Amino acid sequence: MNKQEHCLRVGILGCGPIAQFAHLESAQKARNVTLAAVCDADESLARRFGAFYDAEQIYQDYEEMLANDSLDAVILAVSDAFHVPAAQRAIAAGKHVLCEKPIGITIEEVQALASAVQQSGLVLQVGHMLRFDPGIEATRRFIDEEMGQMLSLKAWYCDSTHRYEMTDALQPLPRPGARSIRPGHDPKANRRQYYMLAHGCHLVDLARFLAGPITAVRARLSERFGAYCWFVDTEFAHGALGHLELTVSVRMDWFEGFQLHGEYGSAIGRIFNPWYFKSSEVDIFHERDATIRRVLGADAHFYRRQLEGFADTILHGVPMRGASIADGLASIQAMVAIARSAECGERIELASVAGGV
Ligand SMILES: NC(=O)c1ccc[n+]([C@@H]2O[C@H](COP(=O)([O-])OP(=O)(O)OC[C@H]3O[C@@H](n4cnc5c(N)ncnc54)[C@H](O)[C@@H]3O)[C@@H](O)[C@H]2O)c1
Repeated sequence: MNKQEHCLRVGILGCGPIAQFAHLESAQKARNVTLAAVCDADESLARRFGAFYDAEQIYQDYEEMLANDSLDAVILAVSDAFHVPAAQRAIAAGKHVLCEKPIGITIEEVQALASAVQQSGLVLQVGHMLRFDPGIEATRRFIDEEMGQMLSLKAWYCDSTHRYEMTDALQPLPRPGARSIRPGHDPKANRRQYYMLAHGCHLVDLARFLAGPITAVRARLSERFGAYCWFVDTEFAHGALGHLELTVSVRMDWFEGFQLHGEYGSAIGRIFNPWYFKSSEVDIFHERDATIRRVLGADAHFYRRQLEGFADTILHGVPMRGASIADGLASIQAMVAIARSAECGERIELASVAGGV
């Protein structure tokens, strides 16, 4: 991989599954990033992956990594409950942050982080990597430049019962850490909360990326035979009608996608399980000349591309293409509103919600 002359010097916190599957390799391959450090409380994970990916420094203590003056930024590849505290410490140490999604668990902790980010002038990007999927990027360009007003958006994220058969076939099995730091509670104990935070955040961020801010939702949840299905009637600030579906899990292949209709065209997209690193297949219909365009996104390493975008923003002031802290906060508000609405059956405005999912 050819590296640029001036690279962002990045430290990765956490050498667990998401770092092993995405962030370590992304730092290795990104044209504008140097892997300056890795850190994991589990020494064997930190040493094994630090050595394999040629990290300059290997830490077990996060504060020690943050004290490394040569580091410009950190990638936070740790459990959801640790995102906000770890980001706060990075910001206090003057480091830019690329944080895994969702940015936090409660609205209040993310609001406090947003204030800290704003005061610091540092960059914080949330790892909603679908924004770096070439098919979705092309859809967003079509919306901005050609589509005119949006009439409606439907989007769905249906996890598959065969997810792990597929990913085990694709990836090396993740190396577990005997001394890994875990949150005090089991994040998977509350399935509604876990599915919404883990999967719903991709759906909500995609909807916001394509159709703009969400103002209110009305959600229904069905739980049967161990499956969970949310149907969410979604109101967008710009007036488009929205419908979101989150199902975990469908008894079929991975099923994720969207359809949107506008004044001068439409787009229909099929999104793949991310570990195939395959661009979404999006047919973009142009009413003007009655043609369809489909982007062939050969370079669909979303995680590497989001890291390169993050580095371009810091190194060269390129406007942030990823999700900002404001986007991260809005996604949490939408997920809290969906959870509340599913409980009470009422329409819930995002501006009225507090607490966590
Ligand atoms: N974007 C995606 O497609 C995607 C996919 C999967 C997971 N994720 C996200 O990635 C995040 C991490 O997932 P995971 O499964 O790798 O987590 P994990 O908890 O299994 O691993 C995290 C690692 O970080 C280490 N760690 C945590 N806090 C530390 C600290 N203060 N100091 C030193 N080491 C510390 C732990 O020891 C552990 O080894 C989650 O937020 C999850 O939502 C994103």
